[in-house]
Amino acid sequence: MTQGPQQDAPAYIRKPAFYDRWMESQGIPIYRDYFIEDGRTLELGFWEERGHPAAFLQLAGQAGVTEARISEIPPGGSIKPYKFALEEIVYVLQGRGVATVWADGGAKRSFEWQAHALFRIPGNHWVEYASMAGDAPVRLLHYNNLPVSMSTVQDPSFFFDSEHVTAADVVGDGGDDGFYAEAKVVEQDPRLTGRVRNYWYGNFFPDMRAWDKLVPFRGRGAGGTTVFVQFPGSELTAHMSVFPSKTYKKGHRHGPAFVIVIPFGEGYSVMWPEGKDKVLVPWHEGSIFVPPNRWFHQHFNLGGDPARYLAFHPLPQFTGTGELIEDVNRDQIEYPSEDPDVRKHFEEELAKRGLKSDMPGMAYKDPKWEWDYAGA
Ligand SMILES: [Fe+2]
Repeated sequence: MTQGPQQDAPAYIRKPAFYDRWMESQGIPIYRDYFIEDGRTLELGFWEERGHPAAFLQLAGQAGVTEARISEIPPGGSIKPYKFALEEIVYVLQGRGVATVWADGGAKRSFEWQAHALFRIPGNHWVEYASMAGDAPVRLLHYNNLPVSMSTVQDPSFFFDSEHVTAADVVGDGGDDGFYAEAKVVEQDPRLTGRVRNYWYGNFFPDMRAWDKLVPFRGRGAGGTTVFVQFPGSELTAHMSVFPSKTYKKGHRHGPAFVIVIPFGEGYSVMWPEGKDKVLVPWHEGSIFVPPNRWFHQHFNLGGDPARYLAFHPLPQFTGTGELIEDVNRDQIEYPSEDPDVRKHFEEELAKRGLKSDMPGMAYKDPKWEWDYAGA
């Protein structure tokens, strides 16, 4: 027998997620727009509990799935140690410094980083950040899964005061195989996945702006190349794409919460729900944006150099196959099928800078046409 609603049952009211209420209680700014033009200069508030300036980003595309926040270390200063139950990815927007990581009762491991570095702090570990620059503040961008986790355990002390110890060996042997040894590239046999797909594997990536071991990302246009980032023993992943000056990629769509930060380049992205108005996102180094769930988005390079964007991925439950296109006809717009205004707007923006498009004419005629990845 199925049970129907009771006459005297209280009305169902959807409450804000616990994470949202916790975030509101922290007394620092929360940015809920579509994008952050520059994470290096964004206005922060002083976070009393942690003792440093910070802000939360809950951009529309995050859909309440992932946390992104910016923290600042004053010149020559430090952030007092804190312990967090969840693992976290940290990208250095600006400055240089040192992080010290340890588990309760375990040895400490310190490593230095500078702007454009990326690293992972394992869950249930303490971390202390210190600036090594006396002139400008350090800015860090943090990415983790606290929102969904707090919906299952509605108790902040579980995440910030836990006595649980996780036995990740952050110290390692201190050599090339240590936890914070420089990440290495892993070339995967294309017979396994049907295409070449290099992984960059480790917990410390010294410079996302300089990395050049990328492989062609055929099918998404613009002669773009990419590298996937895999953290050992973690379900957190990321990828970085690079695409040439004066080109643009194909419009496509997928799930929520891919937080994108720009390590280098100048251009714009356009994001839109099918059949609706478009949101324009101008970007340059330090810009942060998130394409909303199932919105089409398309990236345009207006600069004189290859542009690169780094995307932090949500957990596999939210990505499915991530950036892979399950149904290209439905989820990707080939150049010959796109609205002619897309090309027109791009060419106008280039003209304002005295530049001309490098998009090959054939790309607009043959949907199967592919860039010549010479030497790849
Ligand atoms: Fe995308």
